[in-house]
Amino acid sequence: MKIPFNKEYYTGKEKEYLNDVIEKRKHTMGDGYYTKQVSRLLEEKFSVNKVFMTTSGTHALEMSVKLININPGDEIIIPSYTFPSTANAVLKNKAVPIFADIKPDNLNIDPKDIRKKITKRTKAIIPIHYAGIAADMEEIKRIAKEYNLYIIEDAAQAVNSKYRDQYLGTIGNLGCFSFHSTKNYISGEGGALLINEEDESLIKKAAVFREKGTNRLSFLKGEVDKYSWVEEGSSYLPSDLLMAFLYAQLEKMDEIKFKRKKIFEKYKEGLNNIISYRCIDKICRVPEDRQSNYNSFYIIFNENNVRDKAIELLKKVGITATFHYIPLHISEMGKKMGYKKGDLPVTERIAENIVRLPFYTQMTESKINYVIKNVKNIIKELN
Ligand SMILES: Cc1ncc(COP(=O)(O)O)c(C=O)c1O
Repeated sequence: MKIPFNKEYYTGKEKEYLNDVIEKRKHTMGDGYYTKQVSRLLEEKFSVNKVFMTTSGTHALEMSVKLININPGDEIIIPSYTFPSTANAVLKNKAVPIFADIKPDNLNIDPKDIRKKITKRTKAIIPIHYAGIAADMEEIKRIAKEYNLYIIEDAAQAVNSKYRDQYLGTIGNLGCFSFHSTKNYISGEGGALLINEEDESLIKKAAVFREKGTNRLSFLKGEVDKYSWVEEGSSYLPSDLLMAFLYAQLEKMDEIKFKRKKIFEKYKEGLNNIISYRCIDKICRVPEDRQSNYNSFYIIFNENNVRDKAIELLKKVGITATFHYIPLHISEMGKKMGYKKGDLPVTERIAENIVRLPFYTQMTESKINYVIKNVKNIIKELN
């Protein structure tokens, strides 16, 4: 049996909506009918003040840092255990990413280490919600309030997840989603910027920046009779074709979440007893006060060479399991910034020992059972 790590899932409506754009609406530009539909759907479902659809999660992050009025040299605290986009968004705005360590229980930024990294130059914190499971937002909010810092949630992996009774992406001043094809709801590439502040000037600034620095959106709304260049900007506006595709996915948001929950529960139930093996540290779990969107399922080993061997043996039986991230602080770029191995011990240990199992919405029961059976056999053999 061959089991890939990820597989795109289609709801069946994608072609119909794409055809609607091509044959009926004949309008593939940004901010068309489907862009309005998806942004409204996200605003209503998650009770967001304003959503701007973007070309990627990366672009939503870049826009969000742009919006908080950063001066060159200002510092933004982020986890090192994340995708490079979190750090790039900071660098692109001439600020300095300061890497903090993560907590071993949820692999998210450690509030205690955030406190240690705060200086006079700190302007913001960007927590990510790894695997769709929330960071410790109560403590992060407390720190932000105490030091007057912005919170930008990198909720790229966490669309439709919750921390207590709030959806992720809606807790910070700004939130960022990704609809990349490795995520739960996809448009190939795509993202969204969530503005949670009730601040009209922020919304206006975002609209201008996303539209090449022009007031085209005000023009489309009939607020001005012509549009022109008003500020620095870029083009972060997705084609309506992408948004038509995404609408077919978002309409089925909870159905997709439910299918993924079943996969997660099966993995959890089937692999629960592997934690008694010496070579295993833990398996993925969702704390009581959080609700996952079930983006992925991971196992943490106790030794790096056993982890690598497990990935190799899984490959031999047709199962693609993966690891990530190379922590940003010890990546090529991180080293250039002056960081070194040993700076963030929990991040380094997790990155050396994690394995992510195949996880996709349409994964069948027999495939899940095949993975569980082989993982168990391999761990028994390696123990
Ligand atoms: C935590 C995190 N941030 C940002 C991104 C970037 O999102 P995108 O691929 O949509 O640019 C990703 C995507 O993998 C991610 O996992």
